Amino acid sequence: MTADPVRLHHDGDVAVITIDNPPVNVTSQPVRAGLMAALDAAVRAGAARIVLTGAGRAFVAGADAREFDAPPQPPHLPDVVARIEASPVPVVAAINGAALGGGLELALACAARVAAPAATLGLPEVTLGVVPGAGGTQRLPRLIGVAQAVAMIAEGRVIKADAAQALGLVDAVCDDPLAHAARMALPDRPATGARPTPAADDAALDAARARAAKRSPRQIAPQRAVDLVAASARLPLDQGLALERAAFLDLKTGDQAAALRHLFFAERAAMALGRQGGAPVERAVVVGGGTMGAGIAYALAQAGIQVATVETDAAAAERARGNLARLYADAVRRGKMTAGQAAADQAARHSLHSGYADLPPAQIAIEAVPEDLTAKQQVFAALDAALPADAILATNTSYLNPDAIAQPVRDPSRFLGLHFFSPAHVMKLVEVIRARATAPETLATALRLTARLGKIPVLAGVCDGFIGNRILTRYRQICDVMLIEGALPAQVDAAMRGWGMAMGPYEVQDLSGLDIAYANRKRLNWASQPGVRYVPIADRIVETGRLGRKTGAGWYDYDGGTATPSAMIDAIVTQASAEAGITRRAFSDEEIVARATTAMIAEGLQILDEGIATAPSDVDLVLVHGYGFPRWRGGPLHYAGRAGLTGVLARIEGYAAADPLSWQVPAILRRAVETGVGLDELTGAPG
Ligand code: NAI
Repeated sequence: MTADPVRLHHDGDVAVITIDNPPVNVTSQPVRAGLMAALDAAVRAGAARIVLTGAGRAFVAGADAREFDAPPQPPHLPDVVARIEASPVPVVAAINGAALGGGLELALACAARVAAPAATLGLPEVTLGVVPGAGGTQRLPRLIGVAQAVAMIAEGRVIKADAAQALGLVDAVCDDPLAHAARMALPDRPATGARPTPAADDAALDAARARAAKRSPRQIAPQRAVDLVAASARLPLDQGLALERAAFLDLKTGDQAAALRHLFFAERAAMALGRQGGAPVERAVVVGGGTMGAGIAYALAQAGIQVATVETDAAAAERARGNLARLYADAVRRGKMTAGQAAADQAARHSLHSGYADLPPAQIAIEAVPEDLTAKQQVFAALDAALPADAILATNTSYLNPDAIAQPVRDPSRFLGLHFFSPAHVMKLVEVIRARATAPETLATALRLTARLGKIPVLAGVCDGFIGNRILTRYRQICDVMLIEGALPAQVDAAMRGWGMAMGPYEVQDLSGLDIAYANRKRLNWASQPGVRYVPIADRIVETGRLGRKTGAGWYDYDGGTATPSAMIDAIVTQASAEAGITRRAFSDEEIVARATTAMIAEGLQILDEGIATAPSDVDLVLVHGYGFPRWRGGPLHYAGRAGLTGVLARIEGYAAADPLSWQVPAILRRAVETGVGLDELTGAPG
C-alpha cells in the first residue's frame, strides 16, 4: 500500500479525490478513513464540486477480502457511502475502470456517474457468499428498477460501461471521465437513496430466485440478495439498509462465505504462479488430435499461439481437423465468434501433420495420445529428435508414470506432465506434474503458459493418478465397498448429489466411460494386490460390455438419454455380496455421505503427507475444479478443517477398526490433532 491511499487535489473549484490503493483500490480501512477525511477537507476548502476517481486500472474493485475474517474496523463503508450521499457539495464518480462491490456502492451514492468505455460495473458479492453490505441492494433498484437490479445482484453479474449506460446506471460514457465529471451539467434529480421506492416486480423476483437456484444450488447468498432487492420496493431506505447490513454481517461469518473466500484466495495464489518468470510460448505442438488433443489445441490457439497437431496418418489428421472444426462450430453457436472468424482462425492458427518431418520449431509439445506407455514413449523419442533442444515436452497422461514416459528423452529436465481436464478448452484446472528431473525453468514456462490460457494450475508430484484421479479412485473404491455391503448405485448417487456433488460417482462413470479406470485396475493388478480391499463389481460390469452411455448401458440402463436403475446391475451387486459372504444391510444417506467424503479427505491428507500436493488448498482446487465438489463447501480439506479435524480423525479410526484394508489414519492428521497445529502450518502453506 502507498503511504497515502486517498489523495485530494483542487483544480479550480473542483476537488478531485483519487483512491490509490494498488493494485485495484480495494476499500481497506485506511481508504475508508482517507475518504472521510478528504470529503470533509474538500467541503471545508469551499469546492463547488467533488470528483471521485481511482488511480491505475481500477476505480474500486471491491472490499478487501482479507478484512473479512476480522471484526469490521470503523469507519464502515456504509458510513462513507452515507457521507457521499449527504454531501453538501455534489460528488460525481469518474469511473475510470472496474467499479465492483463496494466500488459500485460508492458510485451509487454520487450525484452522477461517468464511466470510461473499458470500465466494468457490478455487485459480485454473492460469488463470495455474501450480499452487498453498503447499500447496493437498496440503491441499485432505486436507480435502474427491481428487474434489472435483481438480475445483476443475485448472479453477481458484471457489465460493461455501455450496458450500464443503457440501464441508466451511468449518465455518460467517455474517454476522459475525469474531465467530463468535472464539467458536466448535473442531472436535476434527488440523490439515489432519496428516490421513491421502486415498483414491485414479483415476476422478476421469482425468475431471479429460480435462476439462482439453478446456477448456484444450495447457496444462501443469492437468495438473500433477492430478498433484499424485494425489500427495497417495500421499505424506506434506512430500514432496507439496516436489513441489508444485518444480512451481510450474518453471511460473512458463515460456512459458505468462508468456503468461497478460501477458494477465491487459493485461485488467486495458483494463478499468480504463472507470473513468476518462465519463457513465452508462441508456437506449440500437440500430439494426438482426439478428445483431449483437439481441446488443448483449440485452447492454445484461442490464446494466440500457433499450433501444429501431429496425428498418425493423413486420415487421422483429417479426423483431428474435424474435431477442431466441431469446437469452432460450437463457439459460433454460442455466439463467441462469427463463422467467418472461426474459419479464419482455424486456417491461420492450426496446421495438421501426419508425422514429425515438417514440424515448425516450437517452444513446447503436449502429448495427448491414448493411455499406452510404449506409444507415449515412441512419441517422445520422435519429439526429442524433431524439436529444438530446449523445447519443453509435456504429457497429458491421466495415470501413467511420467518418469517412465520420459525415459527416451535425452534431457529430462525439459519434461513434465500437464494434465488437462475434459473438455480441455473449457475446464480451468491443469495439474502441473513435477517429474523426477523437471527443471525449475521448465515448470516456470509451463506455469506461464497455463496463465496465458486463463487456467488454474496446481502443482503435483508423481504418483498414480496425481492429486485428482488418485482421490477419485479412492472415493470410488469406498463407494464400491458400500455397494458390496448393502447400498445400490442410484442411492449412492442420490445421496452424493443431495450433499452437493455436481453428479454422483456412478453417473459420472457412465458419462466418461468405464473402460479407462478398468484398464488402470488391470494394470495395477488390483484383484490380487495385497493391501487393497478389492470389490469386483465394477470389473464385472465392464466385462459384460457395459461401458457407460457410449455403449447405451453402464451402471444404469439408458432409454435415450434417460438413466434408469438397472436390474442387471442390482443382480451383479447382490451376487458379489453373496459370494463375499456379506449380509447386506441398509445405508442411510448420511452414512453414505460421511464415508464417501471421508474417503476424499483421507486420501487428500495422505497426498499431502507424501508431498504430492504442497498445500491443502491445492487439493481443494483440484476437487472443486475437476471433480464437481461443491464450491460452497470449499473443497475436501477446507471442509474437514471447518468440521473439525478431531472428528475426522475419530471417524477414520472407527472405519479403520472395522475395515483396516480400506482405511488407515493419515499421519499428518494425527499430528495435526495431537499438536493442535493446522494443516496449512504443518505443510508450510501460506494459508
Ligand atoms: P482419444 O482417443 O480421443 O485421442 C487420441 C488421439 O491420438 C487419436 O486422435 C489418435 O488418432 C491419436 N494417436 C494415437 N496414436 C498416436 C500417435 N502415435 N501419434 C499421434 N497421434 C496418435 O484420447 P483422449 O481421450 O484424447 O486421451 C488422450 C490422453 O489424454 C490419454 O493419455 C488420456 O489418459 C489423457 N486424458 C484424457 C482425459 C479424458 O477425459 N478423455 C482427461 C485427461 C487426460
